[in-house]
Amino acid sequence: MKGIILAAGAGTRLYPASQPISKILLPVYDKPMIYYPLSTLMLAGIKDILIITNESDYNNFKKLLGNGSQFGIKIQYKIQYVQRGIADAFLIAEDFIAGEDVALILGDNIFHGFGFSTFLKQVMENKKGATVFGYRVKDPERFGIVKFDKNMKALSLEEKPKKPKSNYAVVGLYFYDKNVCEYAKKLKPSKRGELEITDLNKIYLHKRQLNVEILGRGFTWLDTGTQDSMLEAANFVRAIQANKGQQISCLEEIALYKGFITPEKLEAKLKNFKAKSAYYDYVFDLIAAEKENKK
Ligand code: DAU
Repeated sequence: MKGIILAAGAGTRLYPASQPISKILLPVYDKPMIYYPLSTLMLAGIKDILIITNESDYNNFKKLLGNGSQFGIKIQYKIQYVQRGIADAFLIAEDFIAGEDVALILGDNIFHGFGFSTFLKQVMENKKGATVFGYRVKDPERFGIVKFDKNMKALSLEEKPKKPKSNYAVVGLYFYDKNVCEYAKKLKPSKRGELEITDLNKIYLHKRQLNVEILGRGFTWLDTGTQDSMLEAANFVRAIQANKGQQISCLEEIALYKGFITPEKLEAKLKNFKAKSAYYDYVFDLIAAEKENKK
């Protein structure tokens, strides 16, 4: 399965903070925002990843993450020149997807929860069509919303409804089968001029090929679209890391844990690395512990 991170937004809601640099490169507590969605794809076991950036930040993303070899994965980049909507990702990425199944995650979506890796693995294994995730929110008018029948089967989808029919938001992580690019080509721009991800999901819903998984109480989902939600996310990450002494979304840790890279290879990659920070102290401690474990 391939993976795409959509990180091309102008981030105007955060101006002037995101004027000089993409919102997705701004820190959420101790690491750039993109680390969080990238960690989700890696936890799902996805190693072949395309990052879609805007034109001006293309080189900044490359400078940060390179070709992904430090994390034992392969990262490529493409530019979205005009913000034509989330579903535009499948027109931009058609060659990259090359007829495979694909996961899309929005660059400003953060997921955290016990057993997330196993949960995603199960979701990816046994489903046909498309899979999206419903998460209970208090402000449903801000999101794509899914309505269920009494057996929790999806009945309808609406993008940012004025009068939401449920409190379940469709979060910014989507899994699709090989038909997604063909369906995306059929979409027409919405009233706000965008190719809507909700319209794409509706195609699967009408074909009875849309699975909606609930992200329950054990999971946290944060959409960092506003100043307040970014601060909330930063506080969340800080609180958990301080409490547990473990990092959230440490890419090197996930790479080691998933066996994407060996501790020796990671150590060699970081050999000339000079930074002294809590994050890298943690990474070097992990490498030492992993090498010790192997003895
Ligand atoms: O976060 C979940 C929500 O994401 C879903 O519930 C909604 O159905 C979905 O439309 C989306 O709503 P948002 O209001 O959060 O979408 P926004 O326009 O803020 O775009 C989400 C991210 O994708 C943001 O970081 C910018 C980026 N983006 C967006 C568009 C429209 C792009 O890179 N290119 C685009 O053309």
